Amino acid sequence: MYGARMARFAADKIQTMTVIGAGTMGHGIAHVAALAGISVRLFDALAGGAAAGVGKIGKNLDKGVELGKLAADVASAAKARIRAVESFTEACADTDCVIEAIPERLDWKRSTFADADRDAPEHALMATNTSSLPVAEIASALRDPSRLVGMHFFNPVHVMKLVEVVKHPDSDPSAVACAVGLTERFGKTPITVADAPGFASSRLGLVIGLEAMRMFEQGVASAADIDTAMKLGYGHPMGPLELTDLVGLDVRLGIADYLTEAIGPNFTPPRVLRAKVEAGKLGKKSGEGFYRWSADGKRID
Ligand code: CAA
Repeated sequence: MYGARMARFAADKIQTMTVIGAGTMGHGIAHVAALAGISVRLFDALAGGAAAGVGKIGKNLDKGVELGKLAADVASAAKARIRAVESFTEACADTDCVIEAIPERLDWKRSTFADADRDAPEHALMATNTSSLPVAEIASALRDPSRLVGMHFFNPVHVMKLVEVVKHPDSDPSAVACAVGLTERFGKTPITVADAPGFASSRLGLVIGLEAMRMFEQGVASAADIDTAMKLGYGHPMGPLELTDLVGLDVRLGIADYLTEAIGPNFTPPRVLRAKVEAGKLGKKSGEGFYRWSADGKRID
């Protein structure tokens, strides 16, 4: 009887999680997993990257206590559950779940999962945080693609409430259900989407971002006024150009190039975006994008 079959993956069984990539998204994912009571191993290919990620999580947890969002003992317990691990193999050993949050390169993601397939146990759920790449193509790097799903988080992960769970044609239904349950354990709201280019959020979000850049390029208004239009006129928490600085101009350019190829010319990147990326103006992380940023992440103009 189908109903009596044990689900292969179950969110409440996940006690240990491996997060591959300790950058903007990876350290945020490790943060929310540790707060949900999961033991987290954080790995980064860059030597010292995982330790730096753990340091950022510590600061964000302390800020949560300062803001009255977290009890001090809850934050300390979460910190104690996170470990920076320098060896990929060690990070994946005996884990219940691998979440990958490395840069948006299909070949890198495929080879990461081929390695995780070798090092992680068979029962481990595999999830990619890709924001637009085809999840089925990432999954096909595994011997069993059915155990991989997309779990697309939003920046800043410890604040944003959404996770897009992406299922592909071969996903095991219990892997999808597990990702939904895990999202809920993180205190977030899941939406389930098909493996279509840009899913729901990247495709919609980028339309506004690219049009704002074209308007900036054409001199319709200043960056600050375009952003204010969406903040005060539409109630967005942040304008599309400031959001582009937060996400990273390189990240948005990569998604735009991919969606132009996959969907069509509506997503053609504006010249200003390509020019800024070529000049190393990647947004908040590089100190300049559509705005200038101080080293401690404050907007200068
Ligand atoms: N721990 C716990 N809670 C925290 C926290 C911390 N360290 N830091 C902040 N918070 C809480 C605050 O207490 C506040 O909670 P309430 O709403 O309950 O009061 C909330 O988080 C917002 O924080 P702030 O008031 O300090 O900050 P803000 O109001 O200036 O908002 C922002 C900052 C959340 C970034 C907001 O501007 C925003 O939502 N911007 C849009 C972000 C966005 O669109 N992200 C998605 C980008 S796209 C993406 O990531 C996907 C991709 O694929 C590229």
